[in-house]
Amino acid sequence: MRIDLSGRTALVTGSTQGIGLAIALGLARAGARVAVNGRTGESVGRALEGLGRELPGAELVAAPGDIATDEGARRVLDAAGHADILVNNLGIFGARPALEVDDDEWRHYFEVNVLTAVRMTRGLLPGMKERAWGRVLNIASDSAVVVPAEMIHYGVTKTALLSVSRGFAKEAAGTGVTVNSVIAGPTHTGGVEEFVYQLVDRDLPWEEAQRVFMREHRPQSLLQRLIEPEEIANMVVYLSSPLASATTGGALRVDGGYVDSILP
Ligand SMILES: NC(=O)c1ccc[n+]([C@@H]2O[C@H](COP(=O)([O-])OP(=O)(O)OC[C@H]3O[C@@H](n4cnc5c(N)ncnc54)[C@H](OP(=O)(O)O)[C@@H]3O)[C@@H](O)[C@H]2O)c1
Repeated sequence: MRIDLSGRTALVTGSTQGIGLAIALGLARAGARVAVNGRTGESVGRALEGLGRELPGAELVAAPGDIATDEGARRVLDAAGHADILVNNLGIFGARPALEVDDDEWRHYFEVNVLTAVRMTRGLLPGMKERAWGRVLNIASDSAVVVPAEMIHYGVTKTALLSVSRGFAKEAAGTGVTVNSVIAGPTHTGGVEEFVYQLVDRDLPWEEAQRVFMREHRPQSLLQRLIEPEEIANMVVYLSSPLASATTGGALRVDGGYVDSILP
């Protein structure tokens, strides 16, 4: 199977680090022109430098802006131009006792994790439909279906994102544009590595630390290790490609078997 995205432009939100950065790299490796987004010009510049070192000759576009605001989203859409692939990757998370999460924080999670995806989809889907080809991918989480007691406010937004995906897939029905979500499981990012070391002995080397973490705190995982960001990116690159033309309205898991379900 050969994935060739040359001639396509992709916008990946929240792609200066973590899963988003790996997705940007994967799409660029497949030949796409990729717009990289974060809140500031500095963080986007650093990401572009790193990507350029990893993949000399990659076609990269700086698309800085806080997409949780109308003005920031507009700037990002202008920088990205006619994107054929939109990856709504941006998402924030953090453990908090459920009864301490007030209305403002609930609203903030909804604004950042759900409304940004809707806003960017609204900005790019009409052009994709006109050109009769496009891909919208929403990065959800195992927390969408296995709602964590310490992150109800996060889980709810990811459940909502599954609904947003399915709904916009209907909006795009029959147009050549597909809309899907990817259910990512516990993934080895900087933030998660810090989180692991808050729960296990800091003196343990990383491989051992993650094994202890998975055994004691994520025993449902069939993979029994954290997922690497590239493993999420691989699914996103496939779904972004012409090869995935018959997959739409779906929620596809890259969760290491974390969600105990026989359906995808
Ligand atoms: N990590 C996991 O284990 C895991 C598991 C399941 C699902 N997920 C999902 O995967 C996605 C990525 O997670 P991650 O852990 O890779 O994230 P992360 O490392 O925390 O990175 C967040 C990214 O979002 C950017 N960002 C934050 N607020 C922004 C805003 N308002 N506008 C534009 N960019 C913004 C940050 O860039 P700047 O700082 O440069 O602004 C950064 O590039 C999220 O949707 C998350 O829910 C993660």
